[in-house]
Amino acid sequence: MTDYQTEWERYRQEAKTRYDIEAAITATFAPEDAGLQAALTTAQQEGLPSIQISPIQGKLLQLLAAACNAHKILEIGSLAGYSGIWLARSLLAGGRLITLEVDPHHADIVRQSFARAGVSDRTEVRIGSALDLLPQLESEAPFDLVFIDADKPPYPQYLEWALRLTRPGSIIVADNCIRGGKGFRPAEDEGNAGIVEYNKRIANDPRLVSLALAMDDEYTDGFAIAVVKQQG
Ligand code: SAH
Ligand code: DHB
Ligand code: MG
Repeated sequence: MTDYQTEWERYRQEAKTRYDIEAAITATFAPEDAGLQAALTTAQQEGLPSIQISPIQGKLLQLLAAACNAHKILEIGSLAGYSGIWLARSLLAGGRLITLEVDPHHADIVRQSFARAGVSDRTEVRIGSALDLLPQLESEAPFDLVFIDADKPPYPQYLEWALRLTRPGSIIVADNCIRGGKGFRPAEDEGNAGIVEYNKRIANDPRLVSLALAMDDEYTDGFAIAVVKQQG
């Protein structure tokens, strides 16, 4: 074999190792049950894009919900309810998930998927643009966990609302904060500008301790996690 072929083979093996590790972590810690699988099947049948979080990200949301004793969770961007099912199942007894979705067709599918997954009793899907709905949530605050995963340009505004609607000890998670590195470079478009600004703000806000973690799409995208610190 030429040196080139040997090197290529090594890269291929390393990629397979990473893939196998992710599959093993998923099988061990984050297997999907029928409710989660049905949400994905319905989403596909209805022609929705396959842009939901991964099972590992779903399990990380559950871990974070347990860490902040989540009774009240707010999600911005529901799609087909896949992340919502992970979140709803992480609630303590009597807890509630409110999820905001601008597309009525998506919202309809979310309600069906929540029913099939057995979480309708603790979830509420609100239809509208998040920036219109968020001001109405002040009377229902504080939320223990906020998950931001809707349109990208207003991420900094979603952060402002998340800070207003949480308490010390709450956790604010945002998806798609890495974007193949674009989340940290001077913005090329409006969506990236929102994410670049979001990362800068959570990294520098003295009220937060924050970290972006590469964990999705072959370690090219992932969550940014911010914990609202106790004062003093
Ligand atoms: N959290 C989902 C994926 C969300 S995809 C999951 O992991 O399963 C993004 C969703 O945000 C889409 O359903 C889109 O319709 C919705 N969305 C886009 N802009 C929005 C806005 N301004 N307000 C509320 N929802 C919005
Ligand atoms: C897109 C949106 C997401 O929330 C995501 O996780 C992946 C892709 C998108 O709009 O392309
Ligand atoms: Mg996303």
